[in-house]
This record gives sequence, structure tokens and C-alpha cells, in this order.
Amino acid sequence: MSVSKSLPHDAGPMHVAGSARYVDDIPTPENTLHLAFGISEIAHGEIEAMDLDPVRRANGVVAVYTALDLPGENDVSPAAHDEPLLSDGSVHFLGQPIFIVVATSHLAARKAARLANIDYVEKPALLSIDDAMAANSCFEAPLEFLKGDPEAAISDAPFMVEGTLELGGQEHFYLEGQIALVLPQEGGDMLVHSSTQHPSEIQHKVAAALNVPFNAVRVEIRRMGGGFGGKESQGNGLAIACAVAAQKTGRPCKMRYDRDDDMVITGKRHEFRIEYKAGFDAEGRIAGVTFTQYARCGWAQDLSLPVADRAMLHADNTYHLPHARIISHRLRTNTVSNTAYRGFGGPQGIVGIERVIDHIAHELAADPLDIRKANYYQSVAAKAAETTPYHQEVQDSVIREISDELVKSSDYIARRKAIADWNAKNPILKKGIALTPVKFGISFTLTFLNQAGALVHIYSDGSIHLNHGGTEMGQGLFTKVAQVAADAFGLEIDAVKITATDTAKVPNTSATAASSGSDLNGMAVKAACDQLRNRLIQFLKDQHGVKAGDIRFEGGQVLVGEEVFSFADVAGEAYRNRISLSANGFYATPDIEWDRFEGRGRPFYYFAYGAAVSEVVIDTLTGENRMLRVDILHDVGRSLNPALDIGQIEGGFVQGAGWLTTEELVWDGKGRLTTHAPSTYKIPACSDRPEVFNVDLWARGLNVEKTIYRSKAVGEPPFVLGVATFMALSDAIRAAGDGSRYVALDGPATAERVLFSVQAQKGDGDGV
Ligand code: MTE
Ligand code: MOS
Repeated sequence: MSVSKSLPHDAGPMHVAGSARYVDDIPTPENTLHLAFGISEIAHGEIEAMDLDPVRRANGVVAVYTALDLPGENDVSPAAHDEPLLSDGSVHFLGQPIFIVVATSHLAARKAARLANIDYVEKPALLSIDDAMAANSCFEAPLEFLKGDPEAAISDAPFMVEGTLELGGQEHFYLEGQIALVLPQEGGDMLVHSSTQHPSEIQHKVAAALNVPFNAVRVEIRRMGGGFGGKESQGNGLAIACAVAAQKTGRPCKMRYDRDDDMVITGKRHEFRIEYKAGFDAEGRIAGVTFTQYARCGWAQDLSLPVADRAMLHADNTYHLPHARIISHRLRTNTVSNTAYRGFGGPQGIVGIERVIDHIAHELAADPLDIRKANYYQSVAAKAAETTPYHQEVQDSVIREISDELVKSSDYIARRKAIADWNAKNPILKKGIALTPVKFGISFTLTFLNQAGALVHIYSDGSIHLNHGGTEMGQGLFTKVAQVAADAFGLEIDAVKITATDTAKVPNTSATAASSGSDLNGMAVKAACDQLRNRLIQFLKDQHGVKAGDIRFEGGQVLVGEEVFSFADVAGEAYRNRISLSANGFYATPDIEWDRFEGRGRPFYYFAYGAAVSEVVIDTLTGENRMLRVDILHDVGRSLNPALDIGQIEGGFVQGAGWLTTEELVWDGKGRLTTHAPSTYKIPACSDRPEVFNVDLWARGLNVEKTIYRSKAVGEPPFVLGVATFMALSDAIRAAGDGSRYVALDGPATAERVLFSVQAQKGDGDGV
């Protein structure tokens, strides 16, 4: 068996040796041209006059294009058709592309892009959530999910908390920046190499921009150097710009953003404000809760509506809320258009309810863990028929089991006591600890996206060529799916050639997103392999007069009754007997349906669960802080590859903790992003990972649904475990004063914010 083994990432050695080929490594023809965008210097206004002559005259410049030069649709948006590639005369954020420079080198294009003289008539810019609310600037009417009568439940409850939580955005900081290379083919066709999670969308957007049918554009991507959601839609602009320039000049065109441009031009995680009110009893059991979520979407829709939906869909996290109202405002501002980012709004929704729990614990002077346990969804076995605020029955909860096991394995109870003793003796440094859970819904909420295709060939020497619609961004999808293919034929994974995602091989694909890559593509590949296997079995039956049950594919061999053949010999014989050795497979997730306006249905096929315990220490004089120890227990069902799954959990956790601690985006009063480089924007470094980092897969994990080998998606859920560090910081801050105040910590909890919160806790200062 290849599935369930801890095989290394298929490209691991190449990543280390530097020989893994990314788009920028593809050798380009000598006449290749290079592109750069000229971008807006203001956040909102109209272009009054534009002098591009200095750009045209600059060294190496071959052409300059504005919106007027585009042959087809001027749009890069994934769905709403509201995001022009190049400004149509209005500008909506500082950094918006206005013109394209085409030059003989990357540097020449970038230098020339700065030389434009543009006169603007400035308009007031809506930059913040407050600005947008005051101007009633939003993409759609507020959405609302309702279960029961929360207001009555809150007013009848013996206790109540209310408050507000602010959460910052997050830059994806994929190591490989956005990039595209377009090579013109005969007859005007285009071959596009794009670092994208969504090759089909690149194909569609390029075709619309060139005014050609989809079949005139082929998109290929072997791997990304990270995507994290930032390459679902944000690569469209580069690919379209290159295709337009390639069509006009007839030459290959390449564009890559410099890191600063990448950070200024591309969308990020949505900033959120969440107002909450909750009624509860003396045990901390929540009777009713209301949330009002405000999402800063930026100037165009991009994926903001489904992102904001997913925040609402995760407002319960692992907790049964008998009565709940969740209202969501999708705010249009003159800032970069925010986009998908690992968790897709889910993490923001979850921090909301975790804050409520933390606040309740403070009110009752209880351990937050006890409040969590009092509210967890019942286990599957309890058959409690509990529903989420969107009326989906929770039929697979294992959070009680995971939480209890983690409490034991992390020694939570004893450590909590030891930390209290330690804090009593240490006036300056304070420690904190917290356990936080996750329940993450798996499926695209736009139901039709839950489909995938695959194409598998067996060559006559027995080697396998594997292709499917998923993309590789470091998560290990290609390895997992190759394991599935290898197992179908009893082969080792080396017998399977993993090939680049290609819109000409598997069409009409969804983005590799929503953590569903291995669920969907694994099943599609299995469907293709099963067909091939069945053809081979039928052939061998006929040839050898044995029953199907007497044929086995094992250890690179095929056992046919008493006889043994190599897989290669069987493939060769099948070929000579004119058996088709190529098949495509298809999969569509069953049993899901969802009405986002009614707030009702079964949007998720199943849930992924996990929990983390994080221990931190803060310096109450400076606010500096670090993670001391983290223990994680996470459910991946029956793991397809434990090593890769643990890698996803470690990386997801650290990225989640980074979002809530050091990663701070700062815009100035003019709407300029001032943190647009690693010098000012701090992602966690290797040295920021916890000193003790214990990650375990839940041994009893088994998907109750019939997913590929009963595994569970793992890409996004562990990101949410980073919330444990945020709550541990809240706990440490509590220890800095007499504990009489509840200091509501906002995210990211940077050193400054921790310091201000400590001062607020002590009663000297206003806090933040
Ligand atoms: N892991 C790595 N190394 N790099 C990435 O870009 N993206 C994450 C997650 N893990 C990402 C990653 C996101 S946002 C998603 S949706 C999933 O991987 C996508 O892949 P999957 O569906 O195959 O899990
Ligand atoms: Mo992941 S945010 O769904 O690409």
C-alpha cells in the first residue's frame, strides 16, 4: 500500500536542490518582452490628464497600453465583472493598475512605469469600516442567519457579556510572487504559464480579454511556491496583461510583480470587526448569541461575498448555539480588493465566538476550557440532532474526544496550575495558556464547484501518466493523489509520473481551494484508475480463463490465478490486444445543498476537527512575547499521508498564529499601504515557532462520509488552531493585573498591543 504511508513530498529533493521548476525558471525565447503596471498614486478619484510620453520614450520600452488599447473585456474579476484590468478613468485604490508598460527587460519595464505624469481629481476615500458604514457603502444588503429567538434568550439568561473585536488582515507572503508567461502559438492561440490555483479561470479571463473562445487558450502550471488563497484570482491581471501584449506584439510576454508591488496591488485577508452579545447561565452554557460582522472587502467584490458567508458559517465553531443571529456587512472601501486567504473568512468567524467564550470565562471567574466544554457539540454517539445556526445537523462531532485527549496529552490541568504559581512569583514576565478547538466545514459553499476531473494513461511499458484538475502549491496534493493512483495498480509511487495541471487535459476545473483538493481530485483519479483496472481485469479474465476475484495487483506484479506477470508485461499485452489504456475520471460531492439567502441547508459534506494548547510568556514592560509550547491533536480522518498532514498542521498553525500576533498591515491616512515589504511586515520566522511543538494526528480519525480512503481535508482547518496563541496571550494579560477587568485583546496582538493591553489591565492607560 502506498496510501497512508508517510512518503516525502514528490518534489522535496528538487525544492532543496533548487531544481524544481517554477514559472520564472521556464527558459524563455530570446525575443521575450517584459511587463510592468503603472499604478495609481491616490486612493480615489478621476484621471483628468495622463501624459505617457516619458514612459514611451524610456529605455527599452516597446509599447504602452491603456484601457483604450484592450481588444476584449477589460476585467480581471472572478465573477462580478466589476474589476477592470486597467483603470477606465476612475481610480478606486492606491495601487490600482492604470497602464501596462512592455519593454525588453523586467527592470526597464519597472523603471519606465514610474515616469508617467498623471493628473487626478481627488475624491474623498473610504478607507475604514467606519467610513464605509457611515457612507452605506456595501456590495450587497447585509446577510442574516437566524436560529430561534436569540434576543429573548439573551434577556432571559442570568448573565450577559457584550463587546467588540477588531481583527486585522493578512498578507499571503507566498515565497514565489505572482507571475505569468504567455507564449503566442499558431493561429493566434495562446499558451499561458501562470502561477495560479485556478488555471480554468485564467483560461476564461484570458479568452474574454482576447475575444477568443476558451479552446484558443491553454493554461499550464506545474507548481506554485505557495498560494494560500492569494493565487485563486490574483493572478488574472498578470496573465491577461501578458496575453494582450503577446497578441499585439506577436512576441512572448512575461510579467512578475516585484515584492513591494505584489503587496500593494494584490488583495489580502479581510479585516473584520465583530460585535457580540451573549446570554449564558452560571455554568457558562450559552443560551443565545448575536454577532454583527463587518468585513472590509476593498474596492471590488473579488471573492468577498463567499468569504463573508464563510465567516458567518463559522460563527458557531465547535459550540452548539441554541439561539443565534448572525448579521454580516460586506463593505466597499477604497483599499485593495481583499481575497481568499487560508480559511476563507472562517478564521475570523471563529475568533468571534472564541472571544465570547473567553469573555464569559472572565465573568464567571472560570477556566475558559470549562466554558468551552460546557458548550461543545455533542459527540456523534449522543445522537443529539443539534444544528448549526444555518440549520445543518452536526452528525460527526468528535471535538469532545479530541479536546479531552489533548487535555491529558498536553498535561493542561497541571500546567495551568503551575503557570498560576509561576505568575504569582514573577512580577515582570507573565505566562498564559489556552486550549482552543476548531470545527471547519468542508466543501465549496457555491455547490456546483464541488466537482473534479482526472486523466490517467498507462503506457505500454507499464509506466503511468497522471493528470488531474488540482494544482500543487506546496501542500502535497500531487503526492497524495499519486499515492491513490499507485495503489490502484499495486505499484510504488515512482511508477507514477506526476504532471503539470493543464486545461487541455482536464477541462472546466474549480480552483484548488476550500481544502478540497485531495477529496475531489483523489476521487476523480480513483475513478479513472478503477476504469483502467477493470479493463485490465476483463482482459486477463478472457485471456487466462480465470475469475475476476483471482486477479490481484500487488507489489508491481499482477497475480492471475497461479501465474505471476509484471505490470509492464500486462500493460504491453493489453496494448497489443487493442485495449484502451487511457481513461478520464470524474467526481462530484454528493448530498450537499445550500441557500445563502435563506441561511439554510447542508453546505458542508462533513467537518474537520482539531484542538491546540498554546503556552506563551509576555514581558509586561515591553509587550514582547513568545510561544513556549504548543500541543496539537488534529483529525484528518484516515490519513492519506501522515507526514504531509503533519506538515500542513504545523504550517497552518504557525501561519494562523502569525496572523494574530506579528503580522500587521498598516495603511496611512491617504490609503497607502506602509507595510509593503518584509522590513515592515513581520511573518513568523523559524525562530518564532514554539520551542516545544507536539503535533499528533487523532488516532481514531475516520471520516463518517465516504471520502477518498475515509480521509479528511487538512489544508485550512489547522490555520484556526493559531487562535490558541491569541487566547493564551489574553490569559497572560489577565495575569498582569488583579484580574478584575476584562481587557478585550484585538488582533493582531503585536508587542505594542500586548503592552497597551497590560497597561489597561493594570488600570494605567486606556488600552487600545
Ligand atoms: N500549504 C502550502 N504549503 N502552500 C499553500 O499555498 N494553501 C492552503 C493549504 N495549504 C497552501 C497550503 C490553502 S488556502 C488551501 S485552500 C489548501 O492548502 C489547498 O490545497 P488542498 O485542497 O489540496 O488542501
Ligand atoms: Mo484556500 S483560501 O481556499 O485557497
